[in-house]
Amino acid sequence: MSISTAAALLGVYPRVGPTFVAGDGCELLAEDGSRYLDLTAGIAVNALGFGHPAIRAAIEEALATGLIHLSNLFHSQPGERLAEELTARSFASAVFFCNSGAEANEGAFKFARRWTGKTDIVAFTGGFHGRLFASLAATDRPDFRRPFEPLLGGVHIVPLGDRATVERVVDRHRTAAVIIEPVQGEGGVRPVPADWLGFLRELCDDRGVALIFDEVQCGLGRTGTLFAYEQSGVVPDLVTLAKPLGAGLPMGAVLLSGDVTAAVEPGDHATTFGGGPFVAAVAHAAVRTIAEPAFLARVRTTGEWLGERLRLLAGTRSRVREVRGRGLMWGIELHEPATPFISAARERGVLVLSAGATVIRLVPPLIIATEQLERGVSVLEDVLA
Ligand SMILES: Cc1ncc(COP(=O)(O)O)c(C=O)c1O
Repeated sequence: MSISTAAALLGVYPRVGPTFVAGDGCELLAEDGSRYLDLTAGIAVNALGFGHPAIRAAIEEALATGLIHLSNLFHSQPGERLAEELTARSFASAVFFCNSGAEANEGAFKFARRWTGKTDIVAFTGGFHGRLFASLAATDRPDFRRPFEPLLGGVHIVPLGDRATVERVVDRHRTAAVIIEPVQGEGGVRPVPADWLGFLRELCDDRGVALIFDEVQCGLGRTGTLFAYEQSGVVPDLVTLAKPLGAGLPMGAVLLSGDVTAAVEPGDHATTFGGGPFVAAVAHAAVRTIAEPAFLARVRTTGEWLGERLRLLAGTRSRVREVRGRGLMWGIELHEPATPFISAARERGVLVLSAGATVIRLVPPLIIATEQLERGVSVLEDVLA
């Protein structure tokens, strides 16, 4: 295994493996000509894989207008159309576009403060919301937080599943927002039970608190419905999106309920690049493709197949403690560190991720075929033997 950090790039990422030069569907081509099966999708970004025809067409069409960027001082159609599409398909009345998942969560915190007139934020153990000063404060990774403190104050991380503590910490007078991932990603791929989300909804209603669902990783088709919240029957006040939204271009979004929308004033928030015509046109093609009922149905059936297959694997490999997931987002929790097995899979041509120290995470492109998944799982089965 080669660990290299290109000298001129700030060394915050320990890059591993080969240099990739091209991608095609669910496969990556390395400089030396070898091919890899990609079960990482650029960390849950490339929902449509590499070179999807709908995305290529949207890029060509958007390029032909010459409007890569305009600024949010003027009207342009792509962002307005995309916002209409997202509101038509969700609970939201309005959408704010930005450039990343962390930025979407920072925006959601500001909108929640504006709506409630309160300050504090409650987040959960195992949660990951980004690396900026507020989103990092809400992220349950003390090792990421400690070197950069003080972060945003008034952020409380409480144990997921501990109702009594949550009832004590969510405060009628101070708490502006509760933020949760309906399926935790970085924290180890943990679907949060619907009754827990329902409990948070009731508590937030009772105490005048905004409920934010961070669907940056689990949203936009990943769990088999366009939004993960749809499967819980619980409707939040704000949803944050990013990863797959721009089909690989940097884009985030905050979806706001009618009540939250009504509280936000012109000038309350801004970002120069947010929802520019080029990224919005490409994102619109991605959302339209993913939202097709047949596309989502296929994610569900492929996901069920994968879940069954991973349970079979777990039954025969004693290193495996548990498999968890939903749709095409799965974690294989081991009794030991995951990294050596991830490296061994890569050496056998299969790319997978970690989620915390002991979980192997599979977030393949949503277009993946069961034959490709079978190839990936059998390599994992071998390396876990
Ligand atoms: C659930 C969740 N929220 C927020 C983020 C942060 O997104 P970004 O890296 O685009 O800032 C991530 C990134 O992994 C995430 O998984």
